[in-house]
Amino acid sequence: MLDLAIEAATEAGRMIKMHSGRAMKVESKSGQETNLVTDLDRKAEELIIRTIKKRYHNHDFLAEESGSHETKSDYRWVIDPIDGTTNFTHGLPIYCVSIGLEHRGELILGVVYDPNRDELFTAEKGKGAFLNKRPIRVSGTRTLIEALVVTGFPYDVRSNPGHVVQHFNNFLMAAQAVRRLGSAALDLCYVAAGRFDGYWEVTLNPWDMAAGVLILEEAGGKFTDLEGFPSTIHRKSLLTSNGIIHEQMVEVLKRVKGEG
Ligand code: IPD
Ligand code: CA
Ligand code: CA
Repeated sequence: MLDLAIEAATEAGRMIKMHSGRAMKVESKSGQETNLVTDLDRKAEELIIRTIKKRYHNHDFLAEESGSHETKSDYRWVIDPIDGTTNFTHGLPIYCVSIGLEHRGELILGVVYDPNRDELFTAEKGKGAFLNKRPIRVSGTRTLIEALVVTGFPYDVRSNPGHVVQHFNNFLMAAQAVRRLGSAALDLCYVAAGRFDGYWEVTLNPWDMAAGVLILEEAGGKFTDLEGFPSTIHRKSLLTSNGIIHEQMVEVLKRVKGEG
């Protein structure tokens, strides 16, 4: 299954990279002007599902652009064909393909492929996390003031501003520096690889998180809700870190009352 997920992710990744910067059809979706979908998102998703279905025709799928295909299997593939679509439409080379697999609701496999850097992040439950087949580990950064942290902003920020700006501002004051890359799956993999020390975001979907969360956990990272309690990819918000600075991040998030 890992080999199949790698095959699907790398093929889809190469296809989207080939079309990046070229004219493409861009549309809004979910009633939000800034939430974009391109024909490449759809094509990449079709390719991934087709590749997996060739071997496992009765598995379930939860995929961003085509929704949930229920056949009531124990296995469900959770797919984001392009994570970082806004970057992709602008030709900014920060996007990836993300494929996770749940068995009876538990994440067992994750593959994230960044076609611009040819970086393949993989994990299987209990077997560690890898970048291009080499083991990866979260950072050993001990304090927030030494930490490079990252976040993202939701598409519905205009109608539902939450507290994203306040959180951002608070981390700007508390951490060494804050980044916003525009790809949740890469944010998670970068915490896993020790490039970032922590990552929080208030509004995400399961396909943004599935593969990256398993990769992060298998690299020794911690994944909770914004208050530091155990979470799942089916909840909206997330806090992840190297584990060591987790409580320090929870304290910063607590400064703003109410989740989001
Ligand atoms: C988005 C990216 C972004 C995050 C958004 C996601 P998409 O996914 O992961 O970093 O801030 O919340 O929706 O739309 O590019 O697949
Ligand atoms: Ca996404
Ligand atoms: Ca997407």
